[in-house]
This record gives sequence, structure tokens and C-alpha cells, in this order.
Amino acid sequence: MLKPLTAPDIASRKGGERLAMLTAYDYPTALALDQAGADMLLVGDSLAMVVLGHPDTLSVTLDEMVHHTKAVSRAARRSLVVGDLPFLSYQAGVERAVLAAGRLVQEGGARAVKLEGAGYLREVEAMVRAGIPVMGHVGLTPQLVAGLGGFKVQGKTAETAARLVREAMALEAAGCFSIVLEAVPSVVAREITARVSIPTIGIGAGPHCDGQVLVIHDVLGLFERFTPKFVKRYAELGNLMQEAAGRYMYEVRQGAFPADEHGFGMDPQEAAAFRG
Ligand code: KIV
Ligand code: NA
Repeated sequence: MLKPLTAPDIASRKGGERLAMLTAYDYPTALALDQAGADMLLVGDSLAMVVLGHPDTLSVTLDEMVHHTKAVSRAARRSLVVGDLPFLSYQAGVERAVLAAGRLVQEGGARAVKLEGAGYLREVEAMVRAGIPVMGHVGLTPQLVAGLGGFKVQGKTAETAARLVREAMALEAAGCFSIVLEAVPSVVAREITARVSIPTIGIGAGPHCDGQVLVIHDVLGLFERFTPKFVKRYAELGNLMQEAAGRYMYEVRQGAFPADEHGFGMDPQEAAAFRG
């Protein structure tokens, strides 16, 4: 029996072996990724885009996030399950934020939560006080996509880069056990990684972070709308799915499936009596 990783286990890996994190939204995928050795499984609000087909992450609700977090938690034996707090679940006051985080833990089975930006430090503190480990997230924070004017690299000027460093340090001071750096120049991620004592988890943040995360649908070739520059595809499962489904359709139409071996037999005497 594997011992499940905890947020303190993850925090203690700062500067050590790189942390490997992926998103997961359902039971079979989470089972495969857990068994493949993922340190953390993020039930990301990217669910909205890659699973539910929305154009951005703003449309996914806390109820939906809880629903998918449950499925992932049932599969995770070793990985730390991190539930992503969706848009509007933590922006309307400390009390509501803690209750939202609590639902991902109490109902969803997550053992940590994540929220975007450095604008909710009191919320982070209150969650940590309640015993809920919090992962921060700075750089490109997709819940602000409307205000940012699109999915763009952040921290490209000296001034905005310095602000990202300050935000990461503020999140550490508020009690985050780890922090995602999304779509920031590699040099900025390296500086943040050196300046904080909690592990940084990069996505589009270069090779100097303490760990990496990618969206599993991007990794497996299951999301066709666009592939960001920072993604590496390790498989083309979308093509495989289409090919397998196409073969099934063909064989059904040809009468090649099902074959005899896929059917159920009957005792010959009973069959004879049945036929009369
Ligand atoms: O929702 C998500 O998948 C994320 C990761 C990209 C960090 O927040
Ligand atoms: Na997210």
C-alpha cells in the first residue's frame, strides 16, 4: 500500500527531485496517472475547456469542480489531489472562499486547493488556518482572461516581472505550500524559484522550476482547438480514438462485429426445445 503524498511532503521536495504534476478530471485517467507515478493530480478548472468544451475557464462551477474532484480522488493512491477553485468561488469574501475550498476537500476528497493570483492573501491565510493546504498560481491566470485580453505571456517587462516576484513571495508568506508559475519568461521563473522556499511548478515557465505541470489532454493529443508553445505532446490519442471508433462503425455496418465469440451460448437441448 502506497502512502499518499501530503502537501508537506511536496513542500519538502523544494530544490530536490523535480515534481511531476498533471491534470486529471475523471477516474480512469486519474488511475493511469497515479499508477504512472504522478506526484500531484490537479483537477484544474481547465476542465471547462478540455472536457466541457467552453471557450475559457470562466464557465465551470464549483458544483462541477466538486463532481470531478470526487472521481479523481477515488482513483488516487499515491498522488496528492489538488482541487482548483473556479471563478467566483473565492472572490466574494473570505467566508465564502473557505466554504468553497472546504467543499473541494470535504465532498471532493482533495487534500489541497489552488487559487489564482496574489489578490486573495487573506483567503489563503484563512484556508491554511482551517487546515486546507493552498497552492498559489501567478503569471497567466486564465480566470482573468477577459481583463488580460487573451492568453498571453506575463512578466515580459522588468516592471511586471518584478511584480510577479513580489506576488510569489506574498503567496509564500500567506502560507502557500507550493506555487504554479504559468506562461512567464524562463528567467523570471528562475528568479522566483530562487527567491521562494516553496516549490515552484512551471507551465510555460521554462526548465528552472522545482516541478512541472501540463494539461493531460494536451499531453495526450486530445485537445484540438489549440496547442500552446509550451506543450509537448507525448501521444496522439485523439487520432487513435477516431481510428478505433471508425473501425467499429465499419465492422457494425459490414456485419463483421459482433462475431460468434462475442455472443452468449445456450444449452443445445434448451435451444432445440425453444425453437420447437
Ligand atoms: O486549470 C488548470 O489546468 C491549471 C494548470 C494549467 C496549472 O490551472
Ligand atoms: Na486552473
